[in-house]
Amino acid sequence: MKSNHIKLGFILHGVGFTWNDWRHPDRDVNASTSLRLYQEQAATAERGKFDFLFVADSLSITERSSPHYLDRFEPVSILSALAATTSHIGLVGTITVSYSEPFNVARQLASLDHLSGGRAGWNVVTSWLGDTAANFSKADHPAHATRYRIAAEYLDVVQGLWDSWEEGALVGDKESGRFLDTSKLHRLDHDSEYFRVRGPLNIKRTPQGQPVIFQAGASEDGRNFAAQRSDAIFTLAPGFNQAASYYADVKARAAGFGRDPHQLFILPGISPIIGDTDEQAEKLYRELAALETLTTGYGLLSRIFNDHDFTSYDLDAPFPDVEHIGLNSQQGDTVRLLAEVRAENLTLRQVVQRFSTRRRSFIGSPETIADELQRWFEQGAADGFVLFETIPGQLERFVDRVVPILRERGLFRVDYEGRTLRDHLGLGVPDNRYGEPISRRPFA
Ligand SMILES: Cc1cc2nc3c(=O)[nH]c(=O)nc-3n(C[C@H](O)[C@H](O)[C@H](O)COP(=O)(O)O)c2cc1C
Repeated sequence: MKSNHIKLGFILHGVGFTWNDWRHPDRDVNASTSLRLYQEQAATAERGKFDFLFVADSLSITERSSPHYLDRFEPVSILSALAATTSHIGLVGTITVSYSEPFNVARQLASLDHLSGGRAGWNVVTSWLGDTAANFSKADHPAHATRYRIAAEYLDVVQGLWDSWEEGALVGDKESGRFLDTSKLHRLDHDSEYFRVRGPLNIKRTPQGQPVIFQAGASEDGRNFAAQRSDAIFTLAPGFNQAASYYADVKARAAGFGRDPHQLFILPGISPIIGDTDEQAEKLYRELAALETLTTGYGLLSRIFNDHDFTSYDLDAPFPDVEHIGLNSQQGDTVRLLAEVRAENLTLRQVVQRFSTRRRSFIGSPETIADELQRWFEQGAADGFVLFETIPGQLERFVDRVVPILRERGLFRVDYEGRTLRDHLGLGVPDNRYGEPISRRPFA
């Protein structure tokens, strides 16, 4: 059965999502690396009883990167710091499978799960920026399809390592001098296409057993991976219709993989602009929009096409032929954008302008915002939302003005019912599968 509560996450995005959000008069230009700001935002989100905080990440920058990409914390580091100042809210960090080792990542997330008392989540990404390879001693960036194959095997290894300790393996019997019951530790002995990992992990089984898996794929491969393997999907949906169509598609895929679709949460990212009235919210939006320049349009476009530089093309010529670049980068967005370009015969200028001025959904009074959230939730477009704060103070306003309305309508929790991220999402602790015949042998 679908949960009757909206899930809410907040993305710690410092100076903001687009190229010009940082220019808002109230935004500290050092926000992306401000522990104090993140502690305040975490406290506010936790006061609002949000399900989780989310930290995005990438591993390569150029002159086209957005300000938040240029100066940001490593996700597990900032989440570990916040684990110490929060008590309930989930802590979800992004780590790429293309430039890391499963043993390290299993260990980092198991550590975060222990440090936070069971609040860790992992946003599994494959990296869309090709020149990330240059920062990791690699000649080439893996192709799109390969990246998702790596991701599937990588997740097998990480989850296998999380299962390499049985409950109660750490005996700690001082009398007998027995620290471990080694029969309760299991080697993984994983040996397949991309990874060879023996195990077991050097940290005991975590409070959640398995930290929660997030994903954000939009292409065919990405949707299948997310539908089969993730607990929650973070998506960007410009409007209700697109969100509803993504929702129906991915839920059907999850059912096709034999899963209960209600155990997979689809969470569009939104950046609400909340005023006392609809008119005041419009005014706030116009002030923000006035800061926009074509830089944002160029930047968002480059982000889809592997950081491609679009500034040297004729703005008034037809949109350039860059499909091959996008298909190996943000494939889902490339397909969607090029369909729009072809249907409307758009020039580069029209696309750049559209990206720069794209109107954000969710602008209005607290009631208007609550109505819209309820519509998306009840009419099959979302199981919850991940909030971006574009204007300083909007998170607080959401917590103080919108959350109470959602509560009144029975759409959001009054208090946390449990302590772990799995508790908040209503996901049980999965069985430890250490005994399954995936070539596992006793540790000693
Ligand atoms: C809302 C959202 C957040 C994302 N966050 C990250 C991120 O933090 N780091 C990253 O490398 N990719 C991130 N991605 C990109 C995805 O991991 C993925 O590369 C992208 O959606 C393209 O997937 P596709 O090729 O399956 O279409 C995000 C995507 C979306 C939609």
